Amino acid sequence: MKDVVIGFLGCGNVGGGVWKLLEDFQKELAHRDNLRIRVKKVLVRDVNKSRTCAVPRELLTTDVSEIINDPEISIVVEFMGGEQPATEYMIRALRAGKTVVTANKVAVALNWHRLQAAAQETNVGLYYEASVCGAIPIIDTLNHSLQANRIHYLMGIINGTTNYILSRMYDKGEDYNAVLEDAKRLGLAEPNPASDVEGFDAAYKLSIMSSLAFHARIPFSKVYVEGITHVTAMDIACGKEMGYVLKLLAIAKRDGDSIEVRVHPTFIPTEHPLAQVNGSFNAVYLHGHACQEMMLQGRGAGDMPTASAVVGDIIHASIADVHVHPTFANKADADATLAFEDNWRSRYFVRISAVDKPGVLAKVAGWFAQENVSIATMMQKGSVEDGRVPLIFITHEAPEKAMQAALAAFDPAICTVDSMIRVEK
Ligand SMILES: NC(=O)c1ccc[n+]([C@@H]2O[C@H](COP(=O)([O-])OP(=O)(O)OC[C@H]3O[C@@H](n4cnc5c(N)ncnc54)[C@H](OP(=O)(O)O)[C@@H]3O)[C@@H](O)[C@H]2O)c1
Repeated sequence: MKDVVIGFLGCGNVGGGVWKLLEDFQKELAHRDNLRIRVKKVLVRDVNKSRTCAVPRELLTTDVSEIINDPEISIVVEFMGGEQPATEYMIRALRAGKTVVTANKVAVALNWHRLQAAAQETNVGLYYEASVCGAIPIIDTLNHSLQANRIHYLMGIINGTTNYILSRMYDKGEDYNAVLEDAKRLGLAEPNPASDVEGFDAAYKLSIMSSLAFHARIPFSKVYVEGITHVTAMDIACGKEMGYVLKLLAIAKRDGDSIEVRVHPTFIPTEHPLAQVNGSFNAVYLHGHACQEMMLQGRGAGDMPTASAVVGDIIHASIADVHVHPTFANKADADATLAFEDNWRSRYFVRISAVDKPGVLAKVAGWFAQENVSIATMMQKGSVEDGRVPLIFITHEAPEKAMQAALAAFDPAICTVDSMIRVEK
């Protein structure tokens, strides 16, 4: 029997789940893997706080050195969250020769190069499956199973909070703010949901996933980020009528050395595989030159789904003979040979309020045409209000900058642009 002694940094939602899963799984671990995993110390902020798991009070500490300097502890499992002090604690643990397992997307996305260098210095492991999409094994899939592929693109619904909000807005026609407040009440959104609804949570995860998919460091700072805070029930209803579902998509595409990485609300056709991914579920749809299209779907958050990924990593780390690291040069900045494309091509959904007079449509078509943007579909929604009528256009594919220039040319005396949302096939 192999005895593995581990230390926790944090014991909140995820830490509590990991504690419970390790307890629940002891028999299988012993029988199946010949492993006995024991948690020796648990770092928290407040040792007197009540906890959802049965961690004994005497294991709790507020002094990280008790874990990092303990020679018996060989694996440090981090679920404190935030960039600091989590990153510095993990680097100290790695330098002390301990393998690190983390669920922390912010620390990995921003400091991956430093964490990996520290792990390689002392020949230990760095495992981060839970940092992206909870229970979905996307990191392992990209790191191992799909190594023989040139990944052309991946598109993901990788934030459960925004997917829950958008799914409810789509199903019930509710307003953004009402659904957000309900999501907070149900524990599906944080009291401060900014990182989720403004798209940053998805952008951290996209930085990690796209780096693995493209075998090159894709820094978080290169990801275009737009959240869902401006999305209206009206946009969603119009899209629905035209056969589209709105999702917050994380999109990464590679064409030679040209890379696009972006997170923004996106309309996709109702028959797209990602259109069926609703509520708090996550999914990643990707295309590789050999594997072709595939989609991974599952629970992207929650104590037990996330614990599933963390404990999987702990088991791997405990039995691995050699720890595997990504092979690309893991630096703070992107490789100079890569070009980050901000003039990507997309189709566009544009909703305007136009004065109800003859000749207005011709003017609008003219502003689009000046930038070579051609209209694929047009729809009038509702009736005239204050002398203006809502019109919706879906364009053919056009460069982003041409689209922005076309919209900038719209004369507010004739029509105002109420929303512009990108559309993917
Ligand atoms: N929640 C999810 O569904 C989920 C899913 C995937 C990944 N993650 C990631 O997992 C990590 C943890 O999330 P969570 O929801 O479990 O957070 P949480 O419930 O807020 O738990 C954080 C834990 O870390 C401790 N902690 C925080 N800062 C500390 C500090 N400076 N010193 C000592 N202890 C500190 C807290 O101590 P106290 O208990 O004493 O306050 C708490 O036990 C985050 O990186 C998150 O992004 C979460």
